[in-house]
Amino acid sequence: MNILVVGSGGREHALAWKLAQSPRSDRVWVAPGNAGTQQDAENVDLAVDDFDHIVQFAKQNSVGLTVVGPEAPLAGGLIDALDEAGIPAFGPSKDAAQLEASKVFCKQILRRADVPTAEHRAFQDADSAVFYLQQQEDRPWVVKADGLAAGKGVIVCENQEQAIDAVQRIARDKAFGEAGDSLVIEERLFGQEASILAITDGRTLVTLPAAQDHKPALDGDTGPNTGGMGAYSPTPLITPAAQAKVEEEILVPTVHAMKRSRQPFQGVLYAGLMVTNQGIKVLEYNVRFGDPECQPLMMRLDSDLLDIFEATVKGDLASIDSPTWDPRPSVCVVMASEGYPGDYTKGHPIRGLGEAAQLPDVKVFHAGTREVDGEIVSSGGRVLGVTAVADTVAGAKLQAYRAVKCIRWKGAWCRKDISDKAIHP
Ligand code: AMP
Ligand code: GLY
Repeated sequence: MNILVVGSGGREHALAWKLAQSPRSDRVWVAPGNAGTQQDAENVDLAVDDFDHIVQFAKQNSVGLTVVGPEAPLAGGLIDALDEAGIPAFGPSKDAAQLEASKVFCKQILRRADVPTAEHRAFQDADSAVFYLQQQEDRPWVVKADGLAAGKGVIVCENQEQAIDAVQRIARDKAFGEAGDSLVIEERLFGQEASILAITDGRTLVTLPAAQDHKPALDGDTGPNTGGMGAYSPTPLITPAAQAKVEEEILVPTVHAMKRSRQPFQGVLYAGLMVTNQGIKVLEYNVRFGDPECQPLMMRLDSDLLDIFEATVKGDLASIDSPTWDPRPSVCVVMASEGYPGDYTKGHPIRGLGEAAQLPDVKVFHAGTREVDGEIVSSGGRVLGVTAVADTVAGAKLQAYRAVKCIRWKGAWCRKDISDKAIHP
């Protein structure tokens, strides 16, 4: 089967790498891809928002399965466009993708599904939001722009004053553009975060092992927020009993609520969770694989990913065996450009990739890389996801950082403590 993966990050490299291993896969293309996907698959120069050409390419090249990685084309309706053209596509429809694209919609579904989440209120304008905050006692809040804001539309506040300031930035100054036309104000939760992803065809659900991301830029979870500086799986934070509870009390009711509201969900349902003293609560849903969570998960998946995706698209997930996983933990360390998550430099030649690839149980997934005149150069903020497996989390961490040490370019940096929360909980 010919397969098309849409996207260009570390997530898409991991998906293409895994799909290419299927004995049933013929050609695997990545649109537009990066220097790493060009090695494990083939790049095709199509932008993720160029729906017409993506559909045309899939038709002309007898693509039997399209997998859409990032949230923006999902929220924009790429799956609907592929469906209309009769091309099997993995991922939620535009309607179902609202679960990530609208925080107000997400909260409505959580409420309908009776899933534990932070207490919240939704507002359409700054004045009523500020009025609400003034009526409440002074306490920590979280203010969220309703729409997609490249992971930046959430402002975590210590007190009322900061929350009012956040409302002004989102709803009055439109710091995140239209995404701030509506906003959600919610109680701030405290605890450790974990990500639990499930694949669902809208009826049957397959929960993947839990992972933990590291969103803040600097060691010890300090510094500005990023797309994610590293991840590992499984995490001891989620016991097998907790995992079962998340499936039963969070994921399954959500899939049912989506079906009842006539927005059946097909694809990856990613629950961003907070493990609090009052139990596990949902912070947000994403409608796709997490990046970088996808990289350690794909590193551990033993089953054929193509079988799983195909069964999902056919609505036939119940008919296949549960996926099997390498019991060994994996750790992914993101190497980033100087300046990231702010303005960053790019175009620097990357050295040592060959050396890193020689190390056993290591895979270097590319994100912001490109090939220029036969040389691989940095081209994004998050550049590589250096991933390793070993018998223990500590061993996987050591091996990942061994590979990191082989790789260099001007200004390259990474967090040094990825997975430490599993090692010294
Ligand atoms: P989101 O885009 O909703 O995932 O939020 C991004 C990050 O904001 C999360 O990973 C959390 O670190 C933080 N966050 C979101 N909602 C809350 C909340 N209610 N309490 C504390 N932190 C939150
Ligand atoms: N790793 C966080 C995300 O993909 O949104």
